[in-house]
Amino acid sequence: MSELAKLTLGTKALDLPVHDGSIGPQVIDIRKLYSQTGAFTFDPGFTSTASCESAITYIDGDAGVLLHRGYPIDQLADHSSFMEVAYLLTEGELPTKEELDRFTYTITRHTMVHEQLMQFFRGFRRDAHPMSIMCGVVGALSAFYHDSTDIDDPKQRMIASHRLIAKMPTIAAMAYKYSIGQPFIYPDNALSYTGNFLNMTFAVPAEPYVVDPVIERAMDKIFILHADHEQNASTSTVRLAGSSGANPFACIAAGIACLWGPAHGGANEAALNMLREIGRPERIPDYIARAKDKDDPFRLMGFGHRVYKNYDPRAKVMQQTANEVLAKLGVTDPIFDVARELEHIALNDPYFIDKKLYPNVDFYSGIILSAIGFPTSMFTALFALARTVGWVAQWNEMIGDPEQKIGRPRQLYTGAAMRDYVPIANR
Ligand code: SDX
Repeated sequence: MSELAKLTLGTKALDLPVHDGSIGPQVIDIRKLYSQTGAFTFDPGFTSTASCESAITYIDGDAGVLLHRGYPIDQLADHSSFMEVAYLLTEGELPTKEELDRFTYTITRHTMVHEQLMQFFRGFRRDAHPMSIMCGVVGALSAFYHDSTDIDDPKQRMIASHRLIAKMPTIAAMAYKYSIGQPFIYPDNALSYTGNFLNMTFAVPAEPYVVDPVIERAMDKIFILHADHEQNASTSTVRLAGSSGANPFACIAAGIACLWGPAHGGANEAALNMLREIGRPERIPDYIARAKDKDDPFRLMGFGHRVYKNYDPRAKVMQQTANEVLAKLGVTDPIFDVARELEHIALNDPYFIDKKLYPNVDFYSGIILSAIGFPTSMFTALFALARTVGWVAQWNEMIGDPEQKIGRPRQLYTGAAMRDYVPIANR
């Protein structure tokens, strides 16, 4: 604790402790505010509120910096792998080769799902959105894995964490296969985490499928870019669900549900749909005008961010990856030209400059995923697949935090004061 913040409220004067992090903003500790003043703080959307202490991810929104356990995201994207980043986020340090091999071996051998789970899929319509399937199936995992739901047992927490990281690709691939009426493809332990996912998604029993190493690397990089992002809406949802003692599968299912929203993880699907709707660069000015129109709810999907008031560092890597993948596949998708022209126009428009609206992680990801062959409806399911690593790391950190208690915000009440019931005959 370095200093005190002084607060006066009416006749009350309060000294509030101020805590310093290792880097980044200080926090004013208001835990005693209500008991000493009878007043709450008011911060809808938590724009100025730290909900917890964490050592996993740090974001400097003004500088456009994203660190995972101190390592910059662009270095991890260029030099690491999703399995290594998963170890880094969950264990706290970069692994030795032996540690990484052991971790990868463990994850690989948890990729199969209970055979009975396939019946669960049968209950969905074939045109169910993959995220509705992900919410349902991941939540149902707690019905299959009773031996890893005791959150007070560190061993069970570890097994549940490994199961979730390992089974998300299998469930996401099954959701895709189910939607197109193709048979499920079992995991193949001879493949990498990401290669196995591509195989389960695009292979068919009728012929061999060879994982394209360029696509595998691009997909692995996309997973790294989506792995964790501090206390975003879905991670906060996982933490809040976990604070009640809910089992890990239920908590991750809650995170999936929150991520689905178009303002959050659903933006990658919405951004590609927007680019397709724009269709040609000459139609961009109309959409820019709509984005600026206060009376029009339209927003440029894939633009803006609660924290980044500078370029999202993940968007930079994503744009480079999009160039590589499209070149490798020989795809000249006209919406990539629309995306680049839209970005250029927006970044030179005073409205976007003043409001510090830059492309975010979701702006380019859809172009790559579409080029690889995923339908737009699968984009957020892929985001959830990758973000499960961050959710699991944050959930474990919360469970292990001695300060943690059930999350229970208060409110500014603006409803009716106490009044007596009026019988219906007198209304
Ligand atoms: C993700 O939190 C995370 O870390 C999330 C994420 C992660 O990895 O977990 O990074 C992933 O969710 C990225 C964001 C994906 N969402 C979108 O691309 C949807 C479009 N963007 C917006 O809806 C918006 O920018 C948010 C939700 C991302 C951020 O909203 P804020 O911080 O609450 O900002 P705001 O809505 O108060 O907007 C500030 C101003 C407003 O204008 P004024 O009311 O002040 O006049 O900027 C305007 C907004 O109207 N604005 C936009 C805009 N985003 C904000 N105007 C046009 N287009 C946009 N995209």
